[in-house]
Amino acid sequence: MEHIPEVVSAAEQLRRQLQGPWLNPLLKKWVGQGELDYEKYVRTPELLALQTPRAQRVTPDELLFQGVHQSQELWLKMLAHESVEAVEELDANALWEVSARLERMPRIARVLAAELGVLETLTPDTYQIIRRNLGNGSGQESPGYNSVSIAARGLDEALERLLRRRNVQLADVYTTRRHPDLKRVCEQLLDYDEAWQHWLCTHFQLVRRTIGVDAMVKALDGLPTRVLPGRMTQPLFPALWRVRVEMTATWQREGGYAPGAPRDTSGAGIP
Ligand code: HEM
Repeated sequence: MEHIPEVVSAAEQLRRQLQGPWLNPLLKKWVGQGELDYEKYVRTPELLALQTPRAQRVTPDELLFQGVHQSQELWLKMLAHESVEAVEELDANALWEVSARLERMPRIARVLAAELGVLETLTPDTYQIIRRNLGNGSGQESPGYNSVSIAARGLDEALERLLRRRNVQLADVYTTRRHPDLKRVCEQLLDYDEAWQHWLCTHFQLVRRTIGVDAMVKALDGLPTRVLPGRMTQPLFPALWRVRVEMTATWQREGGYAPGAPRDTSGAGIP
């Protein structure tokens, strides 16, 4: 019988090649067998086996959808972990240390939002295919979202304890110049809160362009998408937002210069 050679497309050849392992020419070692130190430390065999294999995917974009969700859970796990460390530092009055951590946390939240931007390339028709395989899954079921929310309450309470130990009201932190260290920490917590809300607002736009936002558009768990806007701006640290409102409520117009009017140049007017 005549042997008919298998016709394999370039993409299929590449796909087979990407199954590995690969001889790295610099290392002169086989990569992809899970035996190298990098692979062992990062646990790449386990990590890369966590995505539905190609043959079982309902659409090629399912890798992106699942991968972004997995990655988001990892970043959320890190945010919750950082929050707990920050609670420990606040309770130890270690404000330099907590300040460094609060520099990191909004950056993580911004990565979360940026990642959603990749998911925005998923068009509604493709998402409809994926959606049939999600059961009644809801964002509220996300372990990362829940743990970050709980950890934020812990952070909020740790801030309250710090203010109590220092015998300072939050309003004093903002209206006097006597507590620059506390003010810095409060502003950094606010940065984090703002970045967190930004993630949820970005998520809202993602939902809007993928399934739409309308009274008749419901999530898989039955929740109308209309409720999302009210939730995405709920602060993690309400007191830090409230203090601004209180300051504006007691603000007085008197005491400034009329626009264009000559100003005192002696410097006496500068507080
Ligand atoms: C195409 C992608 C996505 C769609 C269409 C979508 C859709 C929705 C919808 C309809 C809701 C409201 C109902 C509910 O709680 O389930 C929701 C909530 C939520 N989603 Fe997504 N989502 C997407 C991606 C993501 C990703 C990548 C994450 C990352 C973890 C995420 C996290 C959440 C969270 C935490 C909530 C609850 C928010 C709240 O209750 O305020 N979603 N999503």
